[in-house]
Amino acid sequence: MVVAAIRFLLASDALVALALPLTILLICWRHIPWPTYTDIKDFILLGRRPKRVRASYFSLERAFRSYEQYAQLSAKEVGQMRRSYNTLTRANTNLGNKIGYSKKLGRLHDVTSMNAVITNAIVGLALEEFQELETVHLVDVGLADLGRVREALKHFIRDWSTEGEVERTRIFKPILELLKEVNEEERGNLKVLVPGCGLGRLAWEISELGFETTANELSFFMTLAFRFLLSPTTTTTPNEHSLRPYSHWFSHQRTNDSLFRRLPFPDVVPRLGPKLHLLEQDFLTIPAPPSLSWDKATPASASEGGYDYIVTLFFIDTSLDVFTTMRHIYNLLRPGGIWINLGPLLWTGGGQAKVELSLDEVLKAAEEIGFFISNETEGPTARRTVECEYTGDRNAMMRWIYRAEFWVGHKSKA
Ligand SMILES: C[S@@+](CC[C@H](N)C(=O)[O-])C[C@H]1O[C@@H](n2cnc3c(N)ncnc32)[C@H](O)[C@@H]1O
Repeated sequence: MVVAAIRFLLASDALVALALPLTILLICWRHIPWPTYTDIKDFILLGRRPKRVRASYFSLERAFRSYEQYAQLSAKEVGQMRRSYNTLTRANTNLGNKIGYSKKLGRLHDVTSMNAVITNAIVGLALEEFQELETVHLVDVGLADLGRVREALKHFIRDWSTEGEVERTRIFKPILELLKEVNEEERGNLKVLVPGCGLGRLAWEISELGFETTANELSFFMTLAFRFLLSPTTTTTPNEHSLRPYSHWFSHQRTNDSLFRRLPFPDVVPRLGPKLHLLEQDFLTIPAPPSLSWDKATPASASEGGYDYIVTLFFIDTSLDVFTTMRHIYNLLRPGGIWINLGPLLWTGGGQAKVELSLDEVLKAAEEIGFFISNETEGPTARRTVECEYTGDRNAMMRWIYRAEFWVGHKSKA
């Protein structure tokens, strides 16, 4: 029976008729991005679809849509790379194929689908945690948004994997050493704010020392990813997830195995609790005490006289007005409170940042605002330069080294 059917297929035109659509399907699968859940929903809702919204750079809607489109946008980019490759002369395409370049593009496509397991899970969790996303989601996202998603994926590794341990220890150490000077019994009564906390590892480390810590972050690209680790729905055990975070950048790689390497995370599982809070808003909108508008229900609030410590890591230079940022740090601290900073001065150029200061100028401005910057030359409060990286690939042929500055600023007690 089966043999007869095969004979029939071979003898008739049925095979030829099937071959063409099957080939097209196969090519589409490899090279054309598949529609997402939202695309299908939009298609079905045609005519009564919600309006497209203009979402700000770091908004929930934009971040959500960008995670959702990660696979699609990445596949588009792979398609572009393949088209570019196909413009080589025949001899050079043959050479490329011989060394496996075409397969490498296929591998990039496959690896992106593996990373999408994480981005899709982030999307699923966001849908559960933010009901408003069911109705407001039509945001046009592009390559800049894809870049922000990739940045957050690299942060999973820098902040929450053993692979990232060397990099993060270098920058966390001066901060944590200073905080460890505080008596363990006192720590529970002290409030620490970490503005621009990214994926929250430093804030978590500080909370583990016993301080009441508030991680603050404006960008939902970061907090949706952080929530993915914080939620028992998505993360329960160490190293249960993995990513290939460096695969999208072919430059400076020694081998393709290194480029596409799989890295497990998280090395530990973080949770919010009495010692760790997440404040998802613009740091500049956190009210300074005394403030009648401060929400008393918010934990670790500044309502009882301000934070004891504010820790800024790779943060102040992201500000478009660093004067206002430093004034706000000052206002949020209680009298006698301490500002700990570690970071470079990578200003947003092209006139976007209102001022782009040198280190000298930043420190002078801080003193004008009222900080006393510790001038000790030894010990945990000593000002110093820390050579460090930021989400670097330790196997790569290129290293971007910051000579970041660490300083401690005291607000006067009066
Ligand atoms: C260069 S990243 C550093 C992140 C983190 N501190 C680290 O070292 O991994 C700066 C972070 O600050 C956040 N940020 C910038 N301006 C902010 C603001 N006004 N309020 C809260 N977060 C802000 C950005 O979204 C970004 O996540």
